[in-house]
Amino acid sequence: MPDAAALTIEDLVAGYGQVTVLQEVTLAARPGTITAVLGANGAGKTTLLRTISGLVKPRAGRILVDGIDLARRRPEDITRAGVAHVPEGQGVVTELTIEENLRLGGLIRSGGAARSAALADAYQRFPLLAERKRRLAGTLSGGERQILVIARALMAAPRVLLLDEPSLGLAPRMVTQVMDLVRRLRDDAGLTVLLVEQNARSALAIADHGLVLNLGKVVAAADAATLSADVALRRHYLGF
Ligand SMILES: Nc1ncnc2c1ncn2[C@@H]1O[C@H](COP(=O)(O)OP(=O)(O)OP(=O)(O)O)[C@@H](O)[C@H]1O
Ligand SMILES: [Mg+2]
Repeated sequence: MPDAAALTIEDLVAGYGQVTVLQEVTLAARPGTITAVLGANGAGKTTLLRTISGLVKPRAGRILVDGIDLARRRPEDITRAGVAHVPEGQGVVTELTIEENLRLGGLIRSGGAARSAALADAYQRFPLLAERKRRLAGTLSGGERQILVIARALMAAPRVLLLDEPSLGLAPRMVTQVMDLVRRLRDDAGLTVLLVEQNARSALAIADHGLVLNLGKVVAAADAATLSADVALRRHYLGF
């Protein structure tokens, strides 16, 4: 039977050295949906994203993107297969211009035409970046940097986008803008998004589905409305 999910993870085990963090994590993200990945500090959310993008080698399990197993492949091959990872921390190259930062994200593409088209798309989608393309990225605010790192990831034309705490440290107004952007990437571009967030309430408000990790294990997985309505789960794991 064809695999309907854009991203399927089966019994993923991964960690660092002797330490096992992810314990048989399983999830299925349908194409064009947002899955919120929630859980307390140290639950394993970042490790999950780093394992999907090949930065941490899994010890066991499968990571299927459109049915192809990417577990144990190199990070650049995983990017070429359509998975883009935006790490925590709004990490732009401050001493390069906005355009140079965007171009870095397109380097994985072969061919100047594809790169130019991606840049034109970025400027159409993000007029704020177009207006300031010659300015140094270091002149942007935290929220603007978050938008730039997402735009940079989109330059690789991903189908699956992994976002690690995009709202962390942002003013409430920028949190709303970033969440709106993530929602539009699903609705307009059909991206499949794994959205790691400490801010469970904001993430569930835009997500289709949610997954709660605790000590590297999946303790709940359901549609977003069901998780939001679960008072005990919210109190124990989601902090709202
Ligand atoms: N490079 C590393 N080497 C060893 N252990 C690590 C490393 N990175 C993370 N860990 C450990 O793995 C566990 C999961 O960490 P991880 O960063 O994946 O959690 P998280 O859910 O993203 O937490 P946070 O909400 O704080 O970002 C923690 O116990 C952490 O101490
Ligand atoms: Mg983390």
